[in-house]
Amino acid sequence: MTVVLRAFARPDRDRLAALAAEPGVALWNPFPPGPLGAWAGRSNAGGHGTTHRTWAVADPADDRLLGTVAVFGRGPVPGGSGHEAEVGYRVLAAEAGRGVATAAVSAAVARAAAELGVRRVRLFHAVANPASCRVAAKAGFVLSGELCGLVPYGDGACHREHVHHRAV
Ligand SMILES: CC(C)(COP(=O)(O)OP(=O)(O)OC[C@H]1O[C@@H](n2cnc3c(N)ncnc32)[C@H](O)[C@@H]1OP(=O)(O)O)[C@@H](O)C(=O)NCCC(=O)NCCS
Repeated sequence: MTVVLRAFARPDRDRLAALAAEPGVALWNPFPPGPLGAWAGRSNAGGHGTTHRTWAVADPADDRLLGTVAVFGRGPVPGGSGHEAEVGYRVLAAEAGRGVATAAVSAAVARAAAELGVRRVRLFHAVANPASCRVAAKAGFVLSGELCGLVPYGDGACHREHVHHRAV
């Protein structure tokens, strides 16, 4: 599976709205409150900080939106060069199960290394979200441990989480 990471564009609007409305996205990786168009504009402008990028994930065949992937900077790698980051992702349910998320995470990690100097990436997901665990493993992340989650998900609850890591 090959995907393209690109800026958000006007034709993405309906598929972005559909993605935000999906129950799995609303539960496990909800969009921030507010208009999606404004969020996409801020993402394109790199407006979330110097080591934060959010991309539209598109099909190279017809450029249709398949999902989103983001890399969030977490600061310098302790005792080393480069930065740590966290990765997050969403895929439209109609496009799921054919490797989109795995390809998007791999591409985002490569872009983050080349463009942002990221050298270590962490990936958090709820233990109750096994598809995301599978994405982590397929994208080369190693399971580091299990946490009592502190950040509420879309249902307002703090779920137990796996943390995975990958050096770049
Ligand atoms: C999780 C998500 C990103 C997966 O996207 P995707 O494009 O289908 O992912 P991939 O096709 O790359 O891989 C999915 C893997 O999970 C597996 N899977 C799917 N549902 C599963 C389940 N209930 N239990 C275990 N594995 C499952 C698939 O079989 C596949 O593994 P395989 O290739 O070995 O068969 C997508 O479903 C999604 O956006 N969910 C809602 C938001 C979310 O959870 N984001 C991540 C938050 S950390």
